[in-house]
Amino acid sequence: MAILKIITGEDNKILRTRSSVVLKFDARLKKFARDLKETMIKRDGLGLASPQVAQNIRVIVVTFNYKRENERIVAMVNPDIVEKSDEMEIGEEGCLSLPGRFGKVTRHKMIVVEFSDLEGIKQVLKLAGLNARVVQHECDHLDGVLFVDKMVKGEKEENLLI
Ligand code: CO
Repeated sequence: MAILKIITGEDNKILRTRSSVVLKFDARLKKFARDLKETMIKRDGLGLASPQVAQNIRVIVVTFNYKRENERIVAMVNPDIVEKSDEMEIGEEGCLSLPGRFGKVTRHKMIVVEFSDLEGIKQVLKLAGLNARVVQHECDHLDGVLFVDKMVKGEKEENLLI
């Protein structure tokens, strides 16, 4: 097990690169996913995407049902959001790669995500609320998109201009 270094910065090239599809479901991938999970826990994150630890591959780890009895962490390989509700929801977000920055982001209230587990087996999950938000945030990372790109204007960051 290893705690990985999290890279930061809105203009960081690795964070802005579109990540590659994972083709090999081997022991190395499993170890990487374990390290990603450990790093997320250690840094008190709700989710973490591979580019944040300088690996441009399509792997994310996410926490579902945060602080509830059925809380669990899921590793997703090649996640693909295949359905999105028309209904949107605004919520506060932050990111381990943008320390100290927080803001409101509009996300789809419900999504269906398809992904492979670490064995390479296809899975599908229907998610709502915070669970859906975390997956949308982490999937954005795989396309080089950061939450500040989508932030609702007129929030905290505008205060910095005063
Ligand atoms: Co993030």
